Amino acid sequence: MNKAWATRLLPAAVLLAGGCAAWRLWGEIPVSTGPAAAAVPEASEERRKAALFHSDLGPDTVDVSSYPAARRRDYEVYARACSRCHTLARSINAPFVNRAWWEFYIARMRVRAGFHGETLTKKEIKAVLEFLQHDDQTRKLGRPEEFEAQQRELKRRFEAALDERMERLQKQPLPRL
Ligand code: HEC
Repeated sequence: MNKAWATRLLPAAVLLAGGCAAWRLWGEIPVSTGPAAAAVPEASEERRKAALFHSDLGPDTVDVSSYPAARRRDYEVYARACSRCHTLARSINAPFVNRAWWEFYIARMRVRAGFHGETLTKKEIKAVLEFLQHDDQTRKLGRPEEFEAQQRELKRRFEAALDERMERLQKQPLPRL
């Protein structure tokens, strides 16, 4: 491996490994026994095939009708900024419930958005963070049993979607090496 590659890959690897470890340590809300899985609408076949995270299979809008006007405006910014590369479902159903976590992830997304030639302004980032923080308090920490049941159901469906994909792959002829 030449040096230029090493200098690019190493920070990426450290960030990725750190992110994964941290998700496990603090990212998820504590599991408690809740009611049976909440009624979550089934994701379309297209989304099931493309899902990379369990969160991709959940709802891709938030009902903000009861949120304060300022947070409803922030939601507009968030919905635009955070659905450019993946559906909004990925962050709506992510297990993060902490502003520091969102800051970390948005920094990551910013690097990616930068690669696409579109950077978020400081004002946009603040709006996104304000929305996510309020949404965490209301929908995730505010109704923990419902949110946890939904998380479990989405994880179960994600496993099933992966099995489906594996079966399809196994039916395909092996590529010639
Ligand atoms: C330029 C493209 C792009 C934009 C814009 C973008 N994302 Fe992402 N996002 C990605 C990619 C690629 C991944 C998967 C790889 C990864 O996690 O690094 C991802 C993954 C995620 C994840 C999964 C977490 C994980 O473990 O990696 C979350 C949560 C997320 N994005 C939230 C957001 C939020 C919130 C915004 C808006 C501020 C946003 N994204 C905007 C490209 C983008």
